[in-house]
Amino acid sequence: MITAQTVVLGIIGHPIGHSFSPQIHNYFARIFRQQACYAAFNVLPEHLGEAVAGAHSLGIKGLNVTIPHKQTCIDFLSRVDKTARRIAAVNTLVYEQDGYAGYNTDHIGMYMALKAAGIDIRGKSAVIIGAGGTACAACVMAADKGAMEITIANRTLEKAELLADRLKGFFNMPITAVPLSVINDIAHKDIVIQTTSVGMNYPEDCLIESAGFFRGVSAALELIYNPWETKFVKMAKLNHIQALNGFSTLVYQAAASFELWMGINLTEGFLKQAAADLESLAKQA
Ligand code: ATR
Repeated sequence: MITAQTVVLGIIGHPIGHSFSPQIHNYFARIFRQQACYAAFNVLPEHLGEAVAGAHSLGIKGLNVTIPHKQTCIDFLSRVDKTARRIAAVNTLVYEQDGYAGYNTDHIGMYMALKAAGIDIRGKSAVIIGAGGTACAACVMAADKGAMEITIANRTLEKAELLADRLKGFFNMPITAVPLSVINDIAHKDIVIQTTSVGMNYPEDCLIESAGFFRGVSAALELIYNPWETKFVKMAKLNHIQALNGFSTLVYQAAASFELWMGINLTEGFLKQAAADLESLAKQA
């Protein structure tokens, strides 16, 4: 029951009508017995500053931030956590007296999703496809969690080079940028993370054209969950590679946000069960 003590949470984005986050967080509130409720707010880019200030005035305890506000939102925060600064994007705002503190839990979501599937990135060669905000979060996760080397493959080489150069300022490890056109020639590729939206709107589109790309790959993660299996994931599976879609990453990044807001620790066992329950819920939706 919603009472005067209920903690109010939500997500801001534009558009927001297809977000699955309200189902996830309201499920967490129920299952983990927290007095909280979570709603979706459609915020136009030109209203972002007012929306953040207004939410703070109302005492809204926590907000998720999604497309197109993840980078621009930083201007309206009172402080930004170190990893979020490195990623240059926030997806979680936590109420503090003077304003919102910004965090990024996307990298935690990716790491936890790999971990839950028994995939260890430590000491491995990671290939990140794409060079946008999600790719940056994937690179920071891989570097933080001990990957041996990172290759960023992107359609626009300059963007991959800029990202690689920025990351080299934080991490002392081999980080290489290559154009997508040579993706099949990447020698070391234990774990591949596909961060572009290719495959989302046109499920038969895929940046990987030949099955030969998957030679030497042991695991693949794609950050799309609608459709449930894109051509990328299907191709990886056909080549006997452990392939994950983006749903478990979505659940685990949400869990990390929920922990920040509610000041609780969710156990891994509980979370694995929650991810399985939410997967059935998502498939029915
Ligand atoms: P996000 O913040 O979600 O990562 P983004 O910053 O728009 O989103 O980045 C999207 C990434 O997907 C970019 O790396 C983009 O490549 P370019 O830098 O060349 O634009 C990549 N991308 C999007 N559509 C693509 C397509 N049709 N083919 C190849 N790459 C594509």
